[in-house]
Amino acid sequence: AASSSTQDLIISVDIGTTSTRAIAFNKLAEVVSTVQVEYDQIYPHPGWHEQKMTDLIGTVWSCLDGVAEKLEGMNYKLDQVKGVGITNQRETACVWSKTKGEGICNAIAWPDTRNTDTIRKLAEQSEKGLDALKKTTGLPLSTYFSGPKLRWMLDNVPEVKDAHDSGDLFFGTVDSWVLWNMTGGLDGGVHLTDCTNASRTMFMDLETLDWSQDCLDFFKVDKACLPKIVSNAEVFGKVSQGKFKGFPIAGLIGDQQAALVGNKCIETGSAKNTYGTGAFMLFNTGHEIVPSTHGLLTTVGYRSSPQSKPVYALEGSIAVAGSSVKWLRDSMGLIGDSSEVGRLAAEVEDAGGLFFVPAFSGLFAPYWDDQASGCIIGITGYTTKHHLARATLEATCFTTKAILDAMAKDSKTTLSVLRVDGGMTNSDICMQLQSDILGISVERPQMRESTALGSAICAGVALGLWGWSMEDPASLSRVNTAEATIFKPLNDQEDREIRYEGWNRAVDRSRGWKN
Ligand code: G3P
Repeated sequence: AASSSTQDLIISVDIGTTSTRAIAFNKLAEVVSTVQVEYDQIYPHPGWHEQKMTDLIGTVWSCLDGVAEKLEGMNYKLDQVKGVGITNQRETACVWSKTKGEGICNAIAWPDTRNTDTIRKLAEQSEKGLDALKKTTGLPLSTYFSGPKLRWMLDNVPEVKDAHDSGDLFFGTVDSWVLWNMTGGLDGGVHLTDCTNASRTMFMDLETLDWSQDCLDFFKVDKACLPKIVSNAEVFGKVSQGKFKGFPIAGLIGDQQAALVGNKCIETGSAKNTYGTGAFMLFNTGHEIVPSTHGLLTTVGYRSSPQSKPVYALEGSIAVAGSSVKWLRDSMGLIGDSSEVGRLAAEVEDAGGLFFVPAFSGLFAPYWDDQASGCIIGITGYTTKHHLARATLEATCFTTKAILDAMAKDSKTTLSVLRVDGGMTNSDICMQLQSDILGISVERPQMRESTALGSAICAGVALGLWGWSMEDPASLSRVNTAEATIFKPLNDQEDREIRYEGWNRAVDRSRGWKN
């Protein structure tokens, strides 16, 4: 229609764990066009998970080209696009040469656990053990964060160490690598990272939002290889090539924080859970840095301009969510398509006493056990693949329950409704199980591209578009307003408690296995 082809748009580029997408949004946050390109995951050894640096940026260029083509096919003019926002899988460690502009080795992806020994040695350096840097960074020492991954590279990849020592190293998470390339690479690319991605390195001080020299000394990392830390919404540079050459890049934010914004959780006390490759629940704690004593992370939620005070969040990170369904499909051959898991699970009334703890990367929040290993327990002759499908969905829901309980204790507030998004939320049965297991309502918006929307909102705010603000909830009142689906618990408290107790026993079995 004429009206739609004259409206302004923002494009969000989302470099996720298994694919990259570009999505064009209008001012109502309607998806106008979307392009997705999958890229290879490399698993050289058990526990290792790599990605090619060239794929991380190459898929961005192909998605941008693809979305440009689609928009033109729909009679849009590309100058209706006012800017671009970037969002990304966090904690994935990228290293490249300042002078050659090329990746020095593959990126180490966030679920990779090769640095277990690095963590053990680092913990021995401090009497606080795994909590050595918790006060400054909000994080426990874990294989998960990008800083310990860089330390592993420096210890094990001589080319990385040489580049570090000779001042030729650029380190960054995927946001930095992509932005540096998008803004020209060797030809004027900017080396930046936003405060949400930086808050997952273990190098950043949560209070100052700057690199902490103490943390860098602890890891023996030279500050010269690090990007400058910026806010989430400002003009970082211009696209250097392709159909969108010259367009401003004005949003930069880690994907889970983007989903917080995209789910409009910009009021203190609101929370969302995103079920992607992993699942990540974030609870907005406003300007307060709330330390966790129950296994959550304290992290930056967002900073809406260079002058704004940051908003913080408590986060419960689950390493394996959608990837357990992918494992049923690709490694076990149990289903042909991810969507089949819900159908299988719905054919039985319950999991038949089966519990599946998919601790593929050890266990993240709230357990933090890198010695945990996956286990399936409760198998009898009665067990079928239907029970396993159901137990797979329940695993994410039970871990979400453990995180919600931890959040209630840390934040001293209880949630009455959980907003959700991400791939697994397409399954009605999964969301019903989630509500039954939590005992609270689960609210699923119709437009569930919350991550991409979050970075588009950042870009919109920076460019002064459409009156959007990340400080004023009313300014987003016209965004993504289609009626949400609400799932309410259908079971009773006793059923909930019995099942959760079974889960906790199964988790105990999986713990410490690798010792
Ligand atoms: O912390 C890892 C997270 O950013 C990855 O998100 O959506 O790929 O599971 P996702």
